[in-house]
Amino acid sequence: MHVLTILDHPDPNSFTAAVARSFNMGAESVGHTTELADLHAEGFDPRWTMADVEGEGPDRLPADVRLEQERIDRADAIGFVFPLFWWGMPAMTKGWVDRVWSWGWAYDQLDDPEKSLQRPRTGVLLVPAGARSDEMGELGYRAAIETAWISGTFGYFGFAHRELVLLNGSKGSKTRREALLRRAHEVGASLKAPI
Ligand SMILES: Cc1cc2nc3c(=O)[nH]c(=O)nc-3n(C[C@H](O)[C@H](O)[C@H](O)COP(=O)(O)O)c2cc1C
Repeated sequence: MHVLTILDHPDPNSFTAAVARSFNMGAESVGHTTELADLHAEGFDPRWTMADVEGEGPDRLPADVRLEQERIDRADAIGFVFPLFWWGMPAMTKGWVDRVWSWGWAYDQLDDPEKSLQRPRTGVLLVPAGARSDEMGELGYRAAIETAWISGTFGYFGFAHRELVLLNGSKGSKTRREALLRRAHEVGASLKAPI
């Protein structure tokens, strides 16, 4: 498969960037090809502006959005790697999703998250989070995120299989971080083909 990894972190030496590299290495270790979209390094503009409003429809899309969609066209699987910010996506990832997965290209029915216009793809979210997993489970954050992202957003985009991998304790010890990087590698090496 061809795997597109979307990285959202401004620091190439961050843990989040290391997760993206580990995930890609895992994917390559079993023969997949990989492509990294490093949104900060590439200067992607996440703001949804009048150009997006006026660009609705395939022939009038802003050029930067069209380029992102061409990367998606090439991909069989997509890995999102971003840190959990305020129990949600950081602004860069949020804006990329808002702008790139556009109405008329990704989906056309807001009442049916399983009716995407896109071919089936595998989608994996690798999300470093400072909080512990028991804390997130007890307070309902994990269920809230899973519903919004996995049942909601990524259904409209045709992701089948789709999986949320929370990398809890990302600010923890070196040992903890190394274990999380191994987990990211395993996820890359065990990607399922889209249904
Ligand atoms: C603005 C901001 C908001 C954050 N919000 C959360 C949060 O809601 N839940 C959480 O578990 N961690 C939160 N964190 C911690 C980050 O998820 C953590 O710093 C990140 O996973 C570490 O990755 P890095 O070392 O690559 O930056 C937040 C961090 C920042 C800077």
